[in-house]
Amino acid sequence: ANLPEANPHWQAPGGDLPSAISACTRCPLHKPATQAVAGEGPKSAELMFVGEQPGDHEDLVGRPFVGPAGQLFDLLMAEAGLKREEAFVTNAVKHFKFLPRGRKRLHQKPSQDEIATCNPWLHAEIAQVQPRLIVAMGASAAQALLGSGKAITDRRGRVEWRADGLPVLITLHPSFLLRLSDAAAVKQARADMLADLRRAADWIA
Ligand code: URA
Repeated sequence: ANLPEANPHWQAPGGDLPSAISACTRCPLHKPATQAVAGEGPKSAELMFVGEQPGDHEDLVGRPFVGPAGQLFDLLMAEAGLKREEAFVTNAVKHFKFLPRGRKRLHQKPSQDEIATCNPWLHAEIAQVQPRLIVAMGASAAQALLGSGKAITDRRGRVEWRADGLPVLITLHPSFLLRLSDAAAVKQARADMLADLRRAADWIA
């Protein structure tokens, strides 16, 4: 039921997956959001990266990982010898969830229900791309891909296998690195994430 051809929601003007995702009204998050943000990258990509949900910038621009977390992601990818344009980059949830605070929009973590409701879109992207390895960045991605988002700092660096046989490498979310204030912790988290991205590079080498 998770395959795109069996997905009754994939019936949109244009007929392609991003248009179908744009037209999605399966949960209330579509209402306040500017637009849905579908995954982007070659359909033949060997690596798929999954984040949590679009942030403020992504919601306005309509592309995944283009804000501060995206800039750090780009840096780490380059350092690990990976080309972002060769990877498929997407999110567990396709609409920005936020709390309006004056002129600001404060990021809110998506609930397990919201992740589950959005999961057919992620599965449609996986079915279309058929990556050799999926990299789950953070708890929401691990929840969406493996059914549990618990204990990410313990699980990171490991490959866990999905029931459909696809390997998922768990790593940290770049926003987690941006939120750390202790210099030693930042250094360690950056080194950990870099090691994970290098492992992903080795996987497809
Ligand atoms: N954080 C995410 O998880 N995804 C984005 O696209 C941007 C920030």
